[in-house]
Amino acid sequence: MAQQREARGPANVVGAAVRGNDFWGRSDDVAQVWRQLERGSVLLTAPRRHGKSSLMHALADAPRDGWTVEYFDVEYVQTPRELLVELTAAVLAHDRLRTVLDKVKQAPGQLARWLGGVVSDVGLARDKIGELKIALRDGLGDGPSWAELTEQLLTLLDHADGHVLLVIDEFPMMVGNFLDREQADAIHFLKWFRAVRQRRGGDRLRFLLGGSVNIEPRLELLGQQALLADLERFPLRPLERSDAEAFVAAVLEAEGARHEIGVAAEIVRIADCGVPFFLQVLISEVMAEARRQRRGLLVPDIEPIYQDRVLGPGNRARFSHYHSRLKEHYGPLEEPARLVLDALVLDQPLTTRVLADAVARGGESAAVLDETLALLESDYYVDRDGDRVRFANGFLRSWWMRHAARSRGRL
Ligand SMILES: Nc1ncnc2c1ncn2[C@@H]1O[C@H](COP(=O)(O)OP(=O)(O)OP(=O)(O)O)[C@@H](O)[C@H]1O
Ligand SMILES: [Mg+2]
Repeated sequence: MAQQREARGPANVVGAAVRGNDFWGRSDDVAQVWRQLERGSVLLTAPRRHGKSSLMHALADAPRDGWTVEYFDVEYVQTPRELLVELTAAVLAHDRLRTVLDKVKQAPGQLARWLGGVVSDVGLARDKIGELKIALRDGLGDGPSWAELTEQLLTLLDHADGHVLLVIDEFPMMVGNFLDREQADAIHFLKWFRAVRQRRGGDRLRFLLGGSVNIEPRLELLGQQALLADLERFPLRPLERSDAEAFVAAVLEAEGARHEIGVAAEIVRIADCGVPFFLQVLISEVMAEARRQRRGLLVPDIEPIYQDRVLGPGNRARFSHYHSRLKEHYGPLEEPARLVLDALVLDQPLTTRVLADAVARGGESAAVLDETLALLESDYYVDRDGDRVRFANGFLRSWWMRHAARSRGRL
């Protein structure tokens, strides 16, 4: 079913989370997430660039009646203490939630002392959030435990009017950071957080946790998958093909891009995916070419532009996170991961036996294959179907082949 057009169509935003009129469609998804939130906290999952943050902002920008929503991002949070600072800053920056903290005077002494000092020093304007965080961090020092203070803060939120939704973007990335630093502490945090959710199961505080790392295969490997098992799941899917075509048509119209009939369908066919971002990258390349040639867009333009530009050197940087993520997060598993992906560039699907051989031939221990595949699956590089492993999508495989694979002698 075609989704409803906005009053002013979506501009071709390529990169930042989209809001307002640029946030196209997804009304069914928004409604579904709200339904799930009525029942409990939700884990929103999807690969990078699939539109998670945009969806989360949509909930925060237009809360349902009776809900107060605050969004914050924890990608760079490395410890539970830092999370407490982010959470507190988010609450203080929110006009309605902040009023709850007026009750802080009746709150337990530790919390009141910590917040009282900070608030009188910095004030509470939203544009001061950076300063606020620094002051909160400094004020926290090595004092009372993060767990206690966070509990006290959440207890205050229970006294807000109506429901409170805390949207925590990149939550799984943060858990990954915790796991990378100190596994035992990370598990302690997850146990604590589950207890917090369960104690509050029936009442009015909810969490929407989302991010581009699927932390579950990693927790499974540690035998700890139960720690997130209480969360409702919401996998954000690409647009259906007919919606994808309607979306491309809406963007072309909003951008005033002249084009012949069939261009929108051809863009979707060539991108071969309903992820708005991938479509928008292709749209921006075809519009740039049409501008250069001072003419409208033609159907036969699309495929060569995809091959030469979208997959070409100009877009290498836009997708370089595929490559840099392995460097930054995989430690000793970076090389085995690259060996796996290099093997899958040449042929796929491959069985784990064949991949174990490839890893061993590359001079690494085949014993780390399971752990490597769990990470690659967590980050949506690969899909596993029983024993068969393949790239998660064709675009990533083509990108890897052109820009990162050593099996083709690049890099
Ligand atoms: N509903 C939408 N309407 C229009 N464009 C969208 C929509 N959702 C996503 N996009 C496109 O996808 C891009 C990325 O969106 P967003 O930042 O929400 O994704 P993400 O999944 O949070 O990405 P990351 O994993 O990098 O955090 C946007 O810049 C925009 O081009
Ligand atoms: Mg995001």
